[in-house]
Amino acid sequence: MIAVVLKETTANENRVAATPQTVKDLIKSGLTVRVESGAGEASYITDQDYKDVNAEIFSNQTSILKGADIILKVASATKAEIEKMPDNAAYISLCQTTRELEFVKLLNDKSITGFSMHLIPRTTLAQSMDALSSQANIAGYKSVLVGASHLPVYMPLLMTAAGTIPPAKVLILGAGVAGLQAIATAKRLGAQVEAFDVRPEVKEQVESLGAKFIEVESDNDDGVGKGGYAKETSEDYKNRQQAKIKEHIAKSNLVITTALIPGRPAPLLIPRDMVEGMKPGSVIIDLASENGGNCELTQMGELIEHNGVKIDGTLNFPASIQIHASQLYAKNISTFLTYMVKDGHLNLNLDDEIISGAMFTHNGKVTHELTSKALGEQ
Ligand code: NAI
Repeated sequence: MIAVVLKETTANENRVAATPQTVKDLIKSGLTVRVESGAGEASYITDQDYKDVNAEIFSNQTSILKGADIILKVASATKAEIEKMPDNAAYISLCQTTRELEFVKLLNDKSITGFSMHLIPRTTLAQSMDALSSQANIAGYKSVLVGASHLPVYMPLLMTAAGTIPPAKVLILGAGVAGLQAIATAKRLGAQVEAFDVRPEVKEQVESLGAKFIEVESDNDDGVGKGGYAKETSEDYKNRQQAKIKEHIAKSNLVITTALIPGRPAPLLIPRDMVEGMKPGSVIIDLASENGGNCELTQMGELIEHNGVKIDGTLNFPASIQIHASQLYAKNISTFLTYMVKDGHLNLNLDDEIISGAMFTHNGKVTHELTSKALGEQ
């Protein structure tokens, strides 16, 4: 069976879906591995590095995809790439299938079995395949570094001969994987950190990192969805949450927002009036930018300034720490792929919750429920 690693073509996508280490693992499991020339370049991996572990290097995309059984990518494949893929092949990338409907249709029209690393279930067994966590961790870390570099103030408390500098106040909205890493990073830089999340069980995790948890009273399970994820909250809860955030945001120097709800647009947590209540020189880093943003004024992929408040909607922070992001993502993919390979062949056991959970198209059908709904099929 032939596995193909394509070179990423999306702007600023510096990651790659396989490293020399994971190529070794894939070959060991019985696969032949082809790598498109230059695929590792932006992650500082040369063609020779791949050759040294017995990958075959191809410079022509039509040739590399001819006879491919499984295609590995980071970003979603383009129309031109999909057209060159053999019918009935398998495909894995970090795609958001409920939003990328045209891409899903193109794969499905060719009866390609599509897997999204976004859909890997958050179970103990699948932890080493959990690309959402490995990449969100990086995003949380980098967001604080970028935020700190935008700030016109120090992060730590400093006592100097010329006076005392108070620590910067950092507010993290959404304390999942990215948010918790952002808290830890901001604490290491010496800031005073507060965090908020709709899931009350997060309080303990936030406090164990030395941050203060902002509580919004609720007499039901508002915000607590299936599988440990959040769900949309009631209007009443939203109003109480907004009042609380408004009070804390006005005092914050740096706000990092990470709030997401699977399959839905990102919840709006910072409307325009809240931004206008912030001190000039404050900074918002909106990690939910790709999903519409948690701040009303965020512009996807742009850094803007509103009344002296910088709002950074930069996309894809993991791609800027590409050596480690590629290392971890490639490991997530190779663990998932070798989990499905038996004796050098793909063994698609549809009763397996990891395999069926990550699958979104198979045998000409859209198998993922939310994606099928988004396509209007249900
Ligand atoms: P996510 O990226 O879907 O969302 C980020 C955070 O935003 C979440 O903590 C969510 O509760 C929060 N959020 C959503 N709406 C909000 C609102 N209106 N206001 C404030 N916060 C809001 O979440 P992520 O980081 O992917 O984690 C989701 C869950 O999965 C967590 O419980 C996490 O601990 C769990 N998890 C479990 C793993 C495992 O068991 N293997 C691995 C990784 C995560």
